[in-house]
Amino acid sequence: MLAIEHASFTNPWTREMYLSELENRGVSFCFLARDEHDHVVGFCSFWRILDELHINNLAVLPACRRVGVAAALLTHVLAEGVRLGAQRATLEVRRSNEPARLLYERFGFTVKGVRHAYYTGPVEDALVLWRDRLEALAGS
Ligand SMILES: CC(C)(COP(=O)(O)OP(=O)(O)OC[C@H]1O[C@@H](n2cnc3c(N)ncnc32)[C@H](O)[C@@H]1OP(=O)(O)O)[C@@H](O)C(=O)NCCC(=O)NCCS
Repeated sequence: MLAIEHASFTNPWTREMYLSELENRGVSFCFLARDEHDHVVGFCSFWRILDELHINNLAVLPACRRVGVAAALLTHVLAEGVRLGAQRATLEVRRSNEPARLLYERFGFTVKGVRHAYYTGPVEDALVLWRDRLEALAGS
């Protein structure tokens, strides 16, 4: 999972950050996608805070992209969020991250705000995306 994190982000979360997430039971969740050999090929981590799902990280091994891994993870995570009581989901994405923006658009996320120069290395705005009415996704 850390290898995927490092291959995917310029400011990767550290092992310690993920380990401390594991302590935050009931709030912090992480789902892994595995291939037919049981190798981890992607993951999605999120918080469930009251009726909101905050997606922190979603990444797929570069060699395994464009075959639906992220879409499968997101489908599962949003359904799990509904099961946990979430009604809406939010996340931040780099303005230039076209693949991720298209993925989230496909799942009904829309831009609701901008955090100016939120990211470093390189400095870039974050778009704040929200998806309301998550329950409408359940079962679809
Ligand atoms: C964004 C990311 C998670 C997508 O993972 P993936 O498994 O390749 O995505 P999927 O194959 O499930 O694609 C689902 C849809 O997303 C969109 N999409 C994904 N990658 C795309 C790309 N490179 N170009 C255009 N659209 C893309 C498409 O709509 C795609 O549907 P389609 O294949 O039917 O056209 C992956 O590129 C990644 O790990 N990027 C680095 C980390 C990152 O940016 N994470 C998001 C942070 S907010």
